[in-house]
Amino acid sequence: MKVDLYEKIWMWGVAVMLGLFFTSTAIAALRDSVHPPSHVETIDPTRVMADARFRVPGVSMDATGHVQVRVVGMTFAWLPAELTLPASTAVTFRVTSMDVAHGFEIVRTDGQTMVLPGYVSQFTTTFDPGEYLITCNEYCGVGHHTMAAKLHVVPRTQWQAPRVAVAPPAQLEATGGAHDHR
Ligand code: CUA
Repeated sequence: MKVDLYEKIWMWGVAVMLGLFFTSTAIAALRDSVHPPSHVETIDPTRVMADARFRVPGVSMDATGHVQVRVVGMTFAWLPAELTLPASTAVTFRVTSMDVAHGFEIVRTDGQTMVLPGYVSQFTTTFDPGEYLITCNEYCGVGHHTMAAKLHVVPRTQWQAPRVAVAPPAQLEATGGAHDHR
């Protein structure tokens, strides 16, 4: 088979680049322990809703006044589908997936993380008042484009912390689903 010189150059160029990309990823993962941008916290993806950390998805405030949001991703929805948060306040998001990889993105903010089944992704950010769209930016299947939620950010004085009792992030063990109310 005759392969044109330019075609040969491109083929070899692509092969070398793929080799470099794969090698650098492998070195970063194996030698430097660089993993996807998430927390290093694990979770059983088949028991997310029975896990104390995600049994009550949504917003809460802990004893120190820190606002936390728990979000569960699944094909093709974010749970809960609507959030209300105070402006100019540090908010910690904890996100996990029940099935495949999703991308949690609060559009036009720096609130964004990859969401992988088996892991809890976490980030902390603050917002200006307004309405924000939450989308999925990682292709996850035929309904990927419908995977969205809403975030309302209101002035701190107009915001009230929902009264829910949730396990603190430090509690890394599932409770066996004794109070599983999905
Ligand atoms: Cu979930 Cu795309």
